[in-house]
Amino acid sequence: MNEKTKITENIIGNVNSNTNESGFCQWRSPSNIALVKYWGKKQEQIPCNPSISFTLKNAHTTTNLEWKRKNASSDKHVDFTFYFQGKKNEIFKRRIQKYLNRLAIEIPHLLKYDLNIASQNTFPHSSGIASSASAMSALAAALVDMERQIKTTSDADSLDKNEHNYRTSAFSRLGSGSACRSIYPKAALWGKCSVEDSSDEYAIALEYILHPHFQDYKDAILLVDQGEKRVSSSAGHQLMNGNPYASARYARAAENTETLLSILQSGHLDDFTLLVEEEAMTLHALMMASSPGYILMHPNTLYIIDRVRQFRIDSGIPICFTLDAGPNVHLLYPGNERESVYDFITSELLRYCDGSQWIDDEMGPGIQQIS
Ligand code: DP6
Repeated sequence: MNEKTKITENIIGNVNSNTNESGFCQWRSPSNIALVKYWGKKQEQIPCNPSISFTLKNAHTTTNLEWKRKNASSDKHVDFTFYFQGKKNEIFKRRIQKYLNRLAIEIPHLLKYDLNIASQNTFPHSSGIASSASAMSALAAALVDMERQIKTTSDADSLDKNEHNYRTSAFSRLGSGSACRSIYPKAALWGKCSVEDSSDEYAIALEYILHPHFQDYKDAILLVDQGEKRVSSSAGHQLMNGNPYASARYARAAENTETLLSILQSGHLDDFTLLVEEEAMTLHALMMASSPGYILMHPNTLYIIDRVRQFRIDSGIPICFTLDAGPNVHLLYPGNERESVYDFITSELLRYCDGSQWIDDEMGPGIQQIS
């Protein structure tokens, strides 16, 4: 498909242009943690390999969207104000402007309204926790809701639940690739692979395949450094273009996706640990092998990894770690081990965290309408 054409035309048909005068909605969307990593992309966040993630709960963004019809619609430029944590934020505004202008190709109504967008995060942005994932999926969910509300006779109303989710997910992807996985409860798969309905354009739900062992997973996010990332994800993806190991990586990620799908169904926790840690280490190895190369881990990241592996041996608890493109460590473990892991974190790991900070997170329900 030509990526410049309407991305979801095949799913929903053309958008009808009847409108209301004004409205409001509020959506919440969580961050997610990738198990098989998305690292390397083509235009408009089409991924070079499939990825799988757990959806988080406590690390989330809440977005309010208000709209008011203008006297005359603008040409190609969506008019809006943007507040982040209660303040105007010009850097984020520029990114959202680009996103909204792109989305106006899919939802031409956007050009006829003044928008007021206000977002709040429960966690520090750009700290290695996927803030763009929660922010962009919350905004996409609000925009899809607005689209539904302003149409009187609409194709959007005739979408079934899956199609509606695919549309929200595809719109999230246009904002940030990993955002497309945040909308589903518990777990999501993004990228074309052996699973029916899988697509490079949107993510699909995985909750229904999860073995009971994976129905209640926790994620302790250890904040080794809460500062801005050294390399943005976008710059990181770009570095894959010249990376000599890129094609081997994409093949391995496709293979790991299929293996992880089997593991999630069979409930084999040891295999889960092996695969998830391999993916985390590979992501960082790819960054180190880029030109220029980057080291995104901190010494404390390595201390934590070492401690976690020793704790796993000593306790027999199937805890494993994963990393995003930064120094923070995500510890993944089954919910029934919470007490022992909590003790381990507070007694042995907080000394490696920035200001002893961590986020006690777990699998969550995906996007939610708040009002
Ligand atoms: C390491 O989704 O943040 O977290 O599509 O450019 O917005 P853009 O990148 P982004 O990349 C996420 C990379 C990752 C792995 C993952 O979440 O799969």
